[in-house]
Amino acid sequence: MFPELSYDCSQLTEYYSENIQPIIESNCIGCHQNPSPAGNVSFDSYESVAMNIKYGSILERIQREVNETGFMPKYGSPLSQGDILKITTFRDMSCP
Ligand code: HEC
Repeated sequence: MFPELSYDCSQLTEYYSENIQPIIESNCIGCHQNPSPAGNVSFDSYESVAMNIKYGSILERIQREVNETGFMPKYGSPLSQGDILKITTFRDMSCP
């Protein structure tokens, strides 16, 4: 069954714009954007990123070892613990 979506409210969209979008734009969007996104996964929209943080593999990928297959950002440096915490916080937030 498809997971229930619980990210369509201002609490989450505001947290996202302030805390998550800058991380994605600095570290990920270069590869993950339309029209031909890496891994066929585009992070162009709020929905696509929110969905992936909550139900996909972003958090798992960014916490792999740098030299491990599938580490993200590919060819880049690991995100800071602060950035990972922001993404974890967003994952755990839900709409009232
Ligand atoms: C240099 C290009 C590049 C950058 C930068 C990059 N990625 Fe990727 N990403 C890829 C490629 C290529 C794949 C497909 C191969 C794979 O799955 O490892 C991929 C796959 C993924 C996947 C798996 C998609 C799936 O199948 O569900 C996730 C999640 C992901 N990236 C997240 C991120 C995040 C988050 C960032 C930023 C922190 C990032 N990527 C930065 C190139 C990149």
